[in-house]
Amino acid sequence: MISKKVPLDKIKESEKWLTSKYGTRFFEESVPKYEMAESGMPANAAYQLIHDELNLDGNPDLNLATFVTTWMEPEANQLIMENVHKNFIDHDEYQQTAMIEKRVVNMLARLFRVPEENSFIGVSTIGSSEAILLSLLAHKWMWRERRKAEGKSFDRPNIIFGADVHVVWEKFAKYFDVEARVVPMDSRKFILNIDEMSKMIDENTICVGAVLGTTFTGQCDPIKEINDLLLHIKKDKGWDIPIHVDGASGGFIAPFVYPDLEWDFRLEQVRSINVSGHKYGLVYPGIGWVIFKDEKYLPSDLIFNVNYLGGEMPTFTLNFSKNSDMVLAQYYNLLRLGKEGYKKIMRNILDNATYLSKRFVETGIFEELNSKMFLPVLALRLKEPVDFDVYKLSEKLRERGWIVPAYTLPPNAENVAVLRIVVKENFSRDMAEMFFNDVMNACKALGETKVKKAGVKTEKEHPIC
Ligand SMILES: Cc1ncc(COP(=O)(O)O)c(C=O)c1O
Repeated sequence: MISKKVPLDKIKESEKWLTSKYGTRFFEESVPKYEMAESGMPANAAYQLIHDELNLDGNPDLNLATFVTTWMEPEANQLIMENVHKNFIDHDEYQQTAMIEKRVVNMLARLFRVPEENSFIGVSTIGSSEAILLSLLAHKWMWRERRKAEGKSFDRPNIIFGADVHVVWEKFAKYFDVEARVVPMDSRKFILNIDEMSKMIDENTICVGAVLGTTFTGQCDPIKEINDLLLHIKKDKGWDIPIHVDGASGGFIAPFVYPDLEWDFRLEQVRSINVSGHKYGLVYPGIGWVIFKDEKYLPSDLIFNVNYLGGEMPTFTLNFSKNSDMVLAQYYNLLRLGKEGYKKIMRNILDNATYLSKRFVETGIFEELNSKMFLPVLALRLKEPVDFDVYKLSEKLRERGWIVPAYTLPPNAENVAVLRIVVKENFSRDMAEMFFNDVMNACKALGETKVKKAGVKTEKEHPIC
């Protein structure tokens, strides 16, 4: 027989401890969802209710859709918790944190091969999106000032980028009233088509965008060729058009594993670069960085000076308050890992991605679009004919907890549907093998017969020793 419940406030003080939090009324009542309750609840009940609800979220470690870091070392976690209550923007109060931001900017500028004689400048942002918006604004301002000085019209700026860019590039064009000239994807290479791009450039082009590792397939735009083209145009027509490199993912990979690849400030027209600290910078969200090759490329007009936090403080950001923790966590990784440490991690990630890609291709069921494996990203398309599509496969994999997006590529490759797998630091070879087996099992369950024909043995079919 279930005895009648006595409300918590009526229970004698000495008896309150005879049950756990789950024995209290807060676990047999609906929680306030859309309107605040008159009174609150004990801290442990509020914590447990939210904690339990979040079990319905996907598992971040099985989230192969995201580029964003899902694991950091315990010491980094400790540093983050120790600083989570510091508002980064209060430079006057947290001067050492501000100093550390400058150190990271210095390290990144040098990693991106800024000429030593340059007075480079940079800032931390909430991610690559804010970093890209800021740098493109600077290029718009520079272009406008130049046009004004030359007595020319400055009412029709345009920006050129490939259809392979992240949505933030289109946001910039819309939010800041700049015509977006989008170069259709090369339908065989799935990156920006330079011949098409060259036809779009004119004297009102504020900037050309190039991606160091695209969101769609992980491949790299032809940055050196774009630079060569712009140098030719500069010589021929006198238009000095800057390149902004979107190194959201590639900015922490290329310097370590492709040191000879020219994509950075070594190229004359590359004037600004963004990178996401929270992607292959190996820091949790949200931290990004933007670096200008020289302070002359950042119009002083865009820097505001505020004095309400203590001393005189220059600010060049779209938002104001944010945590200090991820700036510090970025510095932690740079100190802790050094170039050698980053290199080893990036090599492991790329090796695991290459291994996985090879296994998928060997089955005869999949084709790899990112075969050169620039970013550790698999963009797999199904070979015809198949009994299912990538969307069904993605759905089926969710049953095992894997989060793998399926989508179509942008124009001119909109008929290509891919399954994208982003390989990250905490995706070991062991995890890769388990993932492969789960994909094979899913293919089989969806009716694919090639799994057997290709001689692929899933773990379940191996004899137990
Ligand atoms: C190439 C590229 N640029 C920009 C972004 C936006 O980055 P963030 O999420 O750091 O704002 C992404 C995100 O995936 C990206 O892949």
